Amino acid sequence: MAAGPVRTAGRAGANRGEKLKVLIRRAAIQKRVREVALQITRDFSGERVHLIGVLKGACIFLSDLVREIDLETSIDFIAVSSYGKGKESTGQVRLLKDLDSSIAGLNVILVEDILDTGLTISYLLRVLEQRKPKVLRVAALLDKPSRRLKDVQGDYVGFTIPNEFVVGYGLDYSERFRNLKDVCVLSLPNLQP
Ligand code: IMP
Ligand code: MG
Repeated sequence: MAAGPVRTAGRAGANRGEKLKVLIRRAAIQKRVREVALQITRDFSGERVHLIGVLKGACIFLSDLVREIDLETSIDFIAVSSYGKGKESTGQVRLLKDLDSSIAGLNVILVEDILDTGLTISYLLRVLEQRKPKVLRVAALLDKPSRRLKDVQGDYVGFTIPNEFVVGYGLDYSERFRNLKDVCVLSLPNLQP
């Protein structure tokens, strides 16, 4: 996937020395979200699907995805923390906010922003499987398979990307950049050339 032009500091809230390069443009995201939603609509034809967004990163993907699904839907959110403030995972997953309602007997799609090491999703799959959903699937906007530590994969994946730290469309760096409409690679002056 070709990276686009470099965005300059200021326009997207980047601080001095931070560089943002567009990796996936908003139009490509929009198109792919529609395709994923169509696939879900076909797979669960005539049934209800219950989407569970993993806060906070998945909130924008989920909001767009659910509006493109042509089925009866319901949504809930769960929050976990696996990352510190920066780019590196602590490797520890903690449940910060549980679901509001039972998922027993439901067609559940766990919606994530990105599958990275797989620690978060494998923890969540373990926790949610115990609650006896009818079906439990994973939808992720992005997948970085080269970083995987756990053997998990998404059932619905938007884009497979290289091992780069990305922000935008819900993904953050220390809570910043979630509002970017494109997915961008973030490089920091002290970490990368
Ligand atoms: P995993 O447990 O390592 O798979 O990490 C999943 C979580 O880490 C995601 O839900 C994101 O919140 C965060 N994450 C992983 N890679 C990135 C990235 O490139 N940018 C921003 N957040 C990331
Ligand atoms: Mg996340």
